[in-house]
Amino acid sequence: MSKPNEAKIIGASLPRIDGPEKLSGAAKYAADNHLPRMSYAYGVFSTIASGRIQDIDVSQARQMSGVLDIFHHGHFPTLYRTPSSMEQENKVDETRLPFEDDKVYYPGQFVALVVAETFEQARAAAYRVKVDYASEKPIADLEQALATGEQPKPHGESGHERGDPASAFNQASNQIDVIYTTPMETHNPMEMHASTAMWDDGSLVLYESTQGVIFARNTMAKIFGLPVERVVVHAPFIGSGFGSKLWIWPHAVAAAAASRQIGRPVQLVVPRQQMFTTTGHRPATQQHIQIGTDAEGRLVALSHETVNATSMVNTVAELAGRCTPTLYSCSNVKVSHATVRANIGTPTAMRAPGAAPGLFALESAIDEAAVAIGMDPLAFRKLNYTEHDEGQDLPFSSIHLMEAYEKGAEKFGWSRRNPEVGSMRDGNELIGWGMAACNWEALKQDSEAHVSLRSNGTVYVSCATQDIGTGTYTVVAQTASAVTGVPVDRIQVKLGDSTYPRGPLAGGSWATATVMPAIAKAAKAAIEELKTYATGDDGPFQEASMDDLQFSDGQLSDGNGKSITFGELLKEMKLANADGRATTSGEMNSDYSYNSFGAHFVEVRWDPGISRLRVSRVVSAIDVGQIVNQKTAANQVEGAIVMGIGMALYEQTEYDPRSGLPVNNNYAEYLVPTHADQPPEVDVLLLDHPDYNFSEFGARGIGEIGITGLAGAVANAVYHATGKRIRSLPITLDKLMA
Ligand code: MOS
Repeated sequence: MSKPNEAKIIGASLPRIDGPEKLSGAAKYAADNHLPRMSYAYGVFSTIASGRIQDIDVSQARQMSGVLDIFHHGHFPTLYRTPSSMEQENKVDETRLPFEDDKVYYPGQFVALVVAETFEQARAAAYRVKVDYASEKPIADLEQALATGEQPKPHGESGHERGDPASAFNQASNQIDVIYTTPMETHNPMEMHASTAMWDDGSLVLYESTQGVIFARNTMAKIFGLPVERVVVHAPFIGSGFGSKLWIWPHAVAAAAASRQIGRPVQLVVPRQQMFTTTGHRPATQQHIQIGTDAEGRLVALSHETVNATSMVNTVAELAGRCTPTLYSCSNVKVSHATVRANIGTPTAMRAPGAAPGLFALESAIDEAAVAIGMDPLAFRKLNYTEHDEGQDLPFSSIHLMEAYEKGAEKFGWSRRNPEVGSMRDGNELIGWGMAACNWEALKQDSEAHVSLRSNGTVYVSCATQDIGTGTYTVVAQTASAVTGVPVDRIQVKLGDSTYPRGPLAGGSWATATVMPAIAKAAKAAIEELKTYATGDDGPFQEASMDDLQFSDGQLSDGNGKSITFGELLKEMKLANADGRATTSGEMNSDYSYNSFGAHFVEVRWDPGISRLRVSRVVSAIDVGQIVNQKTAANQVEGAIVMGIGMALYEQTEYDPRSGLPVNNNYAEYLVPTHADQPPEVDVLLLDHPDYNFSEFGARGIGEIGITGLAGAVANAVYHATGKRIRSLPITLDKLMA
């Protein structure tokens, strides 16, 4: 008889094992490290959007108490640029090094760095640094960049074309031809970007809030011209990052360089305001979608062309069309991406990069296509459903999108929807019901891990990946527990340190699928080593062969009634531990396409009398393979739904079109959903179908998918309530009142 799912460690609903440390304040984040003789740095940030530094006058600032040094382009060590390659696990977001020259490419760019005895002294002096600029007229945003007449730079490798989309569209019986826009959005993790750097005999030790200690180590080694062995990066706890902490930004380089120059540890926290300019953002997009359908509502043509704003120094394409070749059956499809340059900081990945803005547009347009022919949007999606990835011409490794549509619809009560716009009411409120599909590619990377069975009866696991608040510590403990039978409270998990065996970036929703096989393999290797000891000359099972021995629930037994726990065995043999090390490959069987899916059903309430719009109910059915931990998985989707509501209704980073300077670069004016904005009801249905074509544990990863499609579902619900088709995020009240 098999145990009920709840009793199994993989799939259990477990609280985070790092919870007590975080709640009690014991968890140390990058800026919690106050090292002996530490000094503090504060940036001077450009107050123009474009131009040149003519002069920097530090004379007054230099006299202020506690000031140790002031760095700028005229006074900074020579460093090295990096090849910035994902393959080499070595990447910066901004290729240009801090203080490299006198150029200003965006507002909020580091133009100087003051180092002082205290944070307050550094900040006070930073305000006294006088910078004389030669200002040029900036290109403030996507709109202005498009208006310059500069030809958008195509991002060739991400395009897709099949069939003949142009003529199929022209001949289609129904046509939707629309443009959607999404704004620049800023990552706002609770923990600000921070670097605490020190040098020890020519080696760099960096406490960095990063989603990738290995990447950070490799990158800093390149920049400082060191062998990787002479850089150590620590990030045991991260207050999230959402993609803004995947790769090295200028502040980390500046802090490490300053520390080496002055011969003391330096701590640099990026102020919240500069997190709007110097540590990445989700770029603004303009997306042109054309949909052609036949008389029955079948897709015959689908075109999705995106242009996004990038910075003056780096090309970052937002792959908004990434799901478009995949999600529906259609013979004639075109997807393209291109960039235009503006005087803004360099964009980067933000939770579900590409897919989040892309599925707002695609799933809105699908709704428009369904509405145009008087078809229920869910029925329209089912009609155009496919279990074959027509983009890659491969079957999906596992797909339960139809089940997501059906279970989500049933839970939500979709069949009770009156399709007529503005027909559903509750008192003064108009009720809108909308839905959308979600999609995110499933990815894996190479990884290594170390597992040690210790003589004190505990298990030690280490891997140089990070837990950015997603539950990785817990999932790693569950994996080690599943293999060894040792309960999670006797498993010590060590992550977030570049000296541990190489682990993946915490990004792309790939950490779980990447580390589980490595942990499991290392645990099995540790058990093998234990068996070698046990059957060796001094071992208690010397008459047995390795193959005779069974290991379960932390015990070694010979099948003839003799058994001993690994702790006792090691103690008896005077051994500290039995070790296992493993390397696993992220390579996947090329016979399949690997994707996660889901469906969001959203209710909004619009009160036209007081112009109030709220998301009142969300049901999301999510197909991400095996659920490893019900609690942390549901929590990831709930968080993504809230972030999706932020995308739909609130978030936008705005620049003054005249000066190119940021307008709402603070928590008061950059709106994110708060407690009062949460929908009273959020239901997450985790479909829990293991995908063994993808990985041995069947888990595909869950961090990003929940935000994809959500803004589309909200926009579709808003249309259903109000009859207003808002094609430009966020859906602010002025747009509804216009
Ligand atoms: Mo994610 S945007 O890969 O942190």
